[in-house]
Amino acid sequence: MCPGSFDPVTNGHLDVIERASRLYDELVVAVLVNDKKHGMFTVAERIELITMTTADCGNVVVDSFAGLLVDYCRAHQIDTVLKGLRATSDFDYELQMAQMNRELAGVETVFLPTNPEHSYLSSSLVKEVARFGGDVSRFVPADVHARLSEKVATRGD
Ligand code: PNS
Repeated sequence: MCPGSFDPVTNGHLDVIERASRLYDELVVAVLVNDKKHGMFTVAERIELITMTTADCGNVVVDSFAGLLVDYCRAHQIDTVLKGLRATSDFDYELQMAQMNRELAGVETVFLPTNPEHSYLSSSLVKEVARFGGDVSRFVPADVHARLSEKVATRGD
């Protein structure tokens, strides 16, 4: 499974998801339901956007989860978590989480290096640039860009 906030899904996420989907029979992309962090997109919207943009993969299932990642893995007989690594700055925290998840439930983590073309991308930066009127059309799929533009125009969130 490939877990994350995906608020919203970017071309960087999609690159990792598409490549991961070729490595496994089935890939579950799971959106974290985080009651403490109010996102720009609702979990239902994030799921819809990921579903639309990963349809061509053919073996991607999109879901959400709350609570511990390892509990979702246990409940769905998932033994491998896949994460994209953008830079060494991602590594320290990802390593800690990978070791904790393995200790808690024996869940293994596989790291996939992101395409350098996308290594500076994050949902937070894309939202910030969009909020201030910057052109983010090359960082997200067209459907996501359209929804992002609507959000910025209506909420400024
Ligand atoms: O896209 P993000 O926000 O970097 O994804 C982080 C995510 C969702 C993978 C991580 O926060 C997570 O696994 N949260 C679930 C709660 C949990 O299991 N915490 C303990 C991690 S060792």
